[in-house]
This record gives sequence, structure tokens and C-alpha cells, in this order.
Amino acid sequence: MEVKVAKSAGFCFGVKRAVEKVYEQASLAKKTVYTYGPIIHNEEVVADLESKGVQVIQTEKELYNLKEGTIIIRSHGVGRHIYELLKQLKLEYVDATCPFVQKIHRIVERESKNGRHIVIIGDASHPEVEGIKGWCNGNATVLANANEAESFLKQPFKKLCIVSQTTFNYNNFQELVDILCKKRYDKLVLNTICNATEVRQTEAGTIAKEVEAMIVIGGKHSSNTQKLFEICKKECKNTYYIQTLVDLDSDRFRSIRCVGITAGASTPNNIIEEVQKHVRIEF
Ligand code: F3S
Repeated sequence: MEVKVAKSAGFCFGVKRAVEKVYEQASLAKKTVYTYGPIIHNEEVVADLESKGVQVIQTEKELYNLKEGTIIIRSHGVGRHIYELLKQLKLEYVDATCPFVQKIHRIVERESKNGRHIVIIGDASHPEVEGIKGWCNGNATVLANANEAESFLKQPFKKLCIVSQTTFNYNNFQELVDILCKKRYDKLVLNTICNATEVRQTEAGTIAKEVEAMIVIGGKHSSNTQKLFEICKKECKNTYYIQTLVDLDSDRFRSIRCVGITAGASTPNNIIEEVQKHVRIEF
């Protein structure tokens, strides 16, 4: 069996940095460590951290009720009001927001102050997008698809600043920007898709074209893994989305001679290794 593993599979720089910060804080064990939301979309890692005493806070209300502890802001980042709340509550915090996401916060803060309406191309329910919105002065619009972009053209805005969720698919971003270009806005378009995402997506698509079956590894709530799956599925019908080796249905690979493997930004190396080894030995 030939196995092609994407070099870009697994933790990106921002996720690695955030996960390391949590382990570091957990090892200090001065106070209870909380992450504001699961640190990454990976149940294995979250469970391991839990076993080390790290708790996950899911809502602002839970945060508000905390009396003490160290709060870790994850790589997705949060809106300005969360920092204000942490200060108001006098809670210690460690900011693990990915610097690439922080850069978007600075852009939307500045450009919305300059009078531009902010358009975020991404998924409105994704925490990163909620965080970006939270740095805009005034309202921002989130567009996820072509229909939403077409309807947006009816809005009266004149000056726009268009940014993207870091994990958005580049072709879809460009498609939506092209739609917005139909109207003569005074616009500032900033492709804020993370390079790690672009590299990972391109490599995944290239490998998927060359293999008979493709395995995409990642947490089921991980949006960047879901996008990888979509990209691979387009190129290779036999694409399978698994969280860990347990989800892999070996029967599907019986007559396959060449398999590709990639993984989302929140997939730990040991899980990729395990799948890779299994495929090489068992199939
Ligand atoms: Fe940061 Fe890019 Fe990862 S924005 S969290 S390095 S996907």
C-alpha cells in the first residue's frame, strides 16, 4: 500500500502555541486553570487536559460567576468586551490568541473607526468570527456564501473593509469578493486567510487527486477539518472523515492501493502517526 501523508497535516503554529500555554499553566498549578471554550476542537486533547485539572468555561455567564482562577483565551480569540470583563472581574488571564487573528482584530478596529463597514467572510457562528466582530466599532456583516453576498449588494454602505476568517477556503473567499466587486464600493480587501490554511488546503487537494482513497483526520466540530474534507471529497470520491483510528472502517480499503492522509489544524501528531502506521501495516 502506498501512503501519501500531507506534510502540512496537524497542529498549526497558533494551535501548537495555545495548547503549550495550557499545559504550561496546568503544570504550574497555582490556581484552577480554565480555558474559555475548548482550547482546540479535539476531544482527546481536551480530555487529557481535563485529567490535569483544566476546566472548560463555555459561556460568558460562567466566566462572570468565577471568583478566581487563570483563564486562557484560546487561539480563536475573543471580542474586546471579554478582556474588559476579565479586567473588571480582576481575573488573571493568559492570552493565547493566534497572532494572525490578533492582526485581524487590529485591522477591523482601525478600519471601523475610519468609517468603513466591516464585512467578514466566514461562518457567523464560528468563535473566531464572533471574536472579530467584537473588535468592530458598530455593526459588521458576516457573509458565508454567494447568496448572502448578492443580498448584501442591496445595502446602502459605501465604504467597506473586507476580511476573512483565517480558515476560510480561498476560492470561496475570492468568489464572494468578486460578487461584492459588482458594486462600486470604496473598498479595502484584505485576504486574511492564514497561510497555514492555504498550504494545507492546496496540499490536501493535490494529494486527493493522486490517490484512490483519502483520509481526513480531525475533530468533528473543527471547521478547518470540515473544509479539508470538502476539498478532498471534490477530488476523490473515497474520502473519509475520522476523528481517531477507531473511526476508520478498514473494509473500505480492501482493494485500494494508494491512500492519502491529511489532518486539520487541531489534530495532534500522535493521532496522525497512529493512523499512518495502521494504514501502512494493516492495508
Ligand atoms: Fe493561527 Fe493560522 Fe493556526 S490563524 S491558529 S496559525 S490556522
